[in-house]
Amino acid sequence: MTPARWQTITGPEPLRGVVVGAGKLGPFWALELLEQPDTELAGWVDVDAARLRAKAAELGVPDIPMGTDLDAMLDAQRPDFVVNVAPPTAHHAITLNALGRGIAVLSEKPLAATLAEAVEMVEAADAADRLFMVSQNRRYMPELIAFRDTVARLGRLSELTCDFFIAHRERAAEFLFAFPQPLLLDMAIHLFDGARAITGADPLSVYCDAYNPPYSWYDGPASAHAIFRMSGGLRFAFTGNWAADGFQTSWTGTWRAVGEHGSAIWEGDHEIPHVEPGPGKTITAAVPILIPPNELRFKGLQASLAEFVSALRIGTTPQGEAHDNIQSLAMCHAAVASAELGAPVPVTAFSTGLGAAA
Ligand SMILES: NC(=O)c1ccc[n+]([C@@H]2O[C@H](COP(=O)([O-])OP(=O)(O)OC[C@H]3O[C@@H](n4cnc5c(N)ncnc54)[C@H](O)[C@@H]3O)[C@@H](O)[C@H]2O)c1
Repeated sequence: MTPARWQTITGPEPLRGVVVGAGKLGPFWALELLEQPDTELAGWVDVDAARLRAKAAELGVPDIPMGTDLDAMLDAQRPDFVVNVAPPTAHHAITLNALGRGIAVLSEKPLAATLAEAVEMVEAADAADRLFMVSQNRRYMPELIAFRDTVARLGRLSELTCDFFIAHRERAAEFLFAFPQPLLLDMAIHLFDGARAITGADPLSVYCDAYNPPYSWYDGPASAHAIFRMSGGLRFAFTGNWAADGFQTSWTGTWRAVGEHGSAIWEGDHEIPHVEPGPGKTITAAVPILIPPNELRFKGLQASLAEFVSALRIGTTPQGEAHDNIQSLAMCHAAVASAELGAPVPVTAFSTGLGAAA
């Protein structure tokens, strides 16, 4: 086994975590820390004290340590890890604060609001010798795993497409409406990271057109068309619109992969993948190992936390480890850069080589 690139934590006590953020997703993370046998919810921080108190009461933990001051909480609790589930613009300060104190970080996507911040954060994890992982919850979906395994049976791939059309209005987080690039810098990371997870290919360059439909409720572009050149000659074409009423796709989009032995399609979320082989070929679709739905849990977080815990305990490299995840973030920022420039741009130029070294 290769040695861990971060300090692991041994000892019989459960790992103690502080959750930062009590908005839409924070309570789901707090619940996971309560449910996972090897973790403990050591504290919960949010700048909005009233919201934090209300969420803790709803979760049945009104007496856990709570506060609006992250420094004070980290000084008092000295946790093993922080779960960063604040808005993206706050990720940089929170993650650097934790890593600077020698505390491991499990962060919500996107890793950071800018790529320069992301690079600084990955370097800070290296300097601190601490684990820094980004939770990409789609990677743990049994149906996505089955699609990935089906695509692997197609031989050499020529193209992968993903269409994403959702009217995200009433349930959108507050920060999204004024966010400069809601689709490309908040949502698209799931689908760009999904393309990497499904094919194992690395992004090389992208041409993207992004714009805001005149009726959009977002300030920034809600619509984008991006064509990525990936390693192995693969083209990944993404079409997305987050202000699209009618004929909604799933939250993981709808996918098609074309390879030398045939094609595979997946309608996303709870649909199973299908495959159609070329003449003379026999390929079957992989079957997802389904998990019974649980309305109280947010999909993928349990598996993501389990991977983080085993990485902290025994040093296995988790999916979403920051050196790898920064490549998915680089795809998002390269798409924005291409849209602004009106020309293709390399993705690697934006990853500073950190991803390639992982
Ligand atoms: N994986 C997924 O499917 C998924 C789904 C939703 C959100 N997210 C991600 O989770 C993160 C949070 O999203 P959300 O929907 O919960 O947002 P939200 O706006 O509903 O909640 C964010 C919370 O963080 C608090 N906050 C803001 N700045 C803070 C700071 N500096 N310190 C402490 N607390 C602070 C706010 O008061 C708010 O309560 C984002 O990165 C988002 O992209 C991921």
